[in-house]
Amino acid sequence: MKHTAPPKHFLKDDDLTVAQQAEVLDLAAKMKADPYAYPALAGPKSVAVVFEKPSTRTRLSFDIGIAELGGHSVVIDAQSTQLGRGETVGDTARVLSRYVSAIVIRTFGDDRIEELAANASVPVVNALTDGWHPCQLLADLQTVAEHKPLKGTSIAYLGDAAFNMGNSTVIACSMAGMHVRIGAPEDYQPAPEVLARAAEINAATGGSVVVTEDPVEAVAGADVVSTDAWVSMGMADSEKRIEELTRYQLNGELLAHAADDAIVLHCLPAHRGEEITDEVMDGPHSRVFDQAENRLHAQKALLAWLLRER
Ligand code: CP
Repeated sequence: MKHTAPPKHFLKDDDLTVAQQAEVLDLAAKMKADPYAYPALAGPKSVAVVFEKPSTRTRLSFDIGIAELGGHSVVIDAQSTQLGRGETVGDTARVLSRYVSAIVIRTFGDDRIEELAANASVPVVNALTDGWHPCQLLADLQTVAEHKPLKGTSIAYLGDAAFNMGNSTVIACSMAGMHVRIGAPEDYQPAPEVLARAAEINAATGGSVVVTEDPVEAVAGADVVSTDAWVSMGMADSEKRIEELTRYQLNGELLAHAADDAIVLHCLPAHRGEEITDEVMDGPHSRVFDQAENRLHAQKALLAWLLRER
């Protein structure tokens, strides 16, 4: 099979083509089945993993995954570096590119990761920005694919869909040919440009996106039900957000409207009792800890694939 050249960077979900997304997911499933059979970074190649916000899953899964690929990770809290004292991301990109084979970064605005990528001579991977969480969606799709074919499967996403997880769910699931139902209040729905991009993708993949303010309409018959925290890192208006999003809580009563064999996803960390109840998190439909595990396999596949032939 002839492979297409990987993109230089993975800043958002559709930096991969539809075929490349499927290729990475296929490799992720193989790596999960045989974790040490792919020493793609042997040498070792080093990867910088930079955090400007807290993390548990992303930090550990990249660090461990790079080790399992035979590489060396340098995990950095930006505040402990000169980034924390105002060195530009552009200069940081130029310097790190002299040391490492790839840069993984969790940061704030997408302008920041775009500046980093524009100045890096090695691949840059988005480990969460305000706009996108594409590595999470690779793990989410891997988790869904363990239970259902991606194409034609419906996913309801509840709550705050105007931010990174909502945007990435709309775009990555459209690329996979899924039917996305967003259940969110008007002010928490994906931006028109995200929905327009999804419509372009869906014209080719056969997927679809429906946006509704009615959580029951979003969940009715859904094969997958997903949600995320209502108050993300750094948000000041938490009481207002919780009040406005309360009726989108993923609880047993709402989940009862989904398909009988529906699976539940949450990218974690969860605020139990806010966007999701204990009953659902710990219930028989929940796959949230498989989903967390799959961060490891999906990111290993992504890195091995991005660095192939480089
Ligand atoms: N889902 C996710 O990105 O988790 P962390 O914030 O713990 O990395």
